[in-house]
Amino acid sequence: MKLWSGRFESDTDALVDALNASITFDKRLYKEDIAGSMAHARMLGDRGIIGKDDADRIIAVLEEIRADIDAGNFEFKLADEDIHMSIEAELTRRIGDAGKRLHTARSRNDQVALDFRLHLKNEIKEMIGMELDLLSVLCDIAEKNTGTILPAYTHLQRAQPTTFAHYMMAYANMLRRDVTRLEDCLARMDESPLGSGALTGTTYPIDRRQVAEALGFARITENSLDGVSDRDYAIELLADLSILMMHLSRLAEEVILWCSWEFKFVELSDAYATGSSIMPQKKNPDIAELVRGKTGRVYGSLMGLLTVMKALPLAYNKDMQEDKEQVFDAVDTVKKVLPVFTAMLATMTVKPENMRRAASEGFINATDCADYLVKKGLPFRDAYTILGKLVRRCMETGRTLETLPLDEYKSFSPLFDDDVYGAVKLETCVELRNVPGGPSSTSVAAQLDSVRAFLRERLK
Ligand code: ARG
Repeated sequence: MKLWSGRFESDTDALVDALNASITFDKRLYKEDIAGSMAHARMLGDRGIIGKDDADRIIAVLEEIRADIDAGNFEFKLADEDIHMSIEAELTRRIGDAGKRLHTARSRNDQVALDFRLHLKNEIKEMIGMELDLLSVLCDIAEKNTGTILPAYTHLQRAQPTTFAHYMMAYANMLRRDVTRLEDCLARMDESPLGSGALTGTTYPIDRRQVAEALGFARITENSLDGVSDRDYAIELLADLSILMMHLSRLAEEVILWCSWEFKFVELSDAYATGSSIMPQKKNPDIAELVRGKTGRVYGSLMGLLTVMKALPLAYNKDMQEDKEQVFDAVDTVKKVLPVFTAMLATMTVKPENMRRAASEGFINATDCADYLVKKGLPFRDAYTILGKLVRRCMETGRTLETLPLDEYKSFSPLFDDDVYGAVKLETCVELRNVPGGPSSTSVAAQLDSVRAFLRERLK
């Protein structure tokens, strides 16, 4: 029999129960639901809204129920609809009238909003920890590769020389933003909605701040209609996770390219690669591909929830029950992806000789050679035109800027001299780019220091 059987003449159809119920997925909120109920019961007892004895009994038996669920000795029934009613029903089965008093001055609408926030706060902290692990691996790789020269690309065409350290620090900067985005999200969602009631609060003399404090919230929500109908925090989290996955998918794509025979800049450890069922020679970067693929799934959750919330009138609407699966799936995906991705990078072998080989083809020092003429007084546009012709000559004669004879150089401009060979050396090109943010060893060291300091502040 339903809770609301007083108002109804007949029971709901079984198919309706199956559609209506959220217990199959919101049971994962049981710890938060019980913690919220304990804090609520304690406050009701302290304020004399229910008897102190009842509050004590409720809290003690909720503790037992939690232990039973932890141990797997609890049956979640579809008929109980959701986690809130399951636990309340079990409490009442165990202690009768005292259990029936728990829902005084509360609604499932503020209860679910509370549980969801509590749950996501913990998930965010866990994901931040995983991001910091990845960030520190990126720094380790950078540290070991400050002298590893490779081409940097635009349009996937070899463009200018850089170092693998500089490359890794680009991703480190992206990851650092991802960490601060989750921190911002966490700080913004750190409000207890309990006490919003169904939508317009309650007439009981409750103490919302006591409950918020007991549960570790920084503040209480300021408007009860907003308190029960706001899912911004879930959408914001999905947006943050989407951006994170976008970053991971970009690095995943590079790893996939770098593993190919065309590049062979890195080799994955056997533990983080897979073979082919038919082609004996294959070693495939499946993990990186899955990271790239699962990005679509997380974007899907963001779009899904934005669409669920679109045009919903205040306050609670049952549509909002669709929030949980989207968020759970995205959080599960990110938590599955991050540690494996981190380990894949940490165990991958960098191939400096192959990076170097790629860097010595493709005239990636052409800008530097033009700059050489500029430093001797030529306007940049003229130098740029000369270099275009020079590169064409090299391509026709199978030379590089390093091997073109000086008399040929001089036939393009009298400004060329012996020192041009030093100027087009890849090491010189990298080291002279010592602008803040650049790839020179001192510039990269400063970037590393900055990210390491960020990590230290969070890991202390
Ligand atoms: N299972 C519901 C949800 O996830 C809990 C809130 C239900 N409130 C209601 N008035 N039906 O949204």
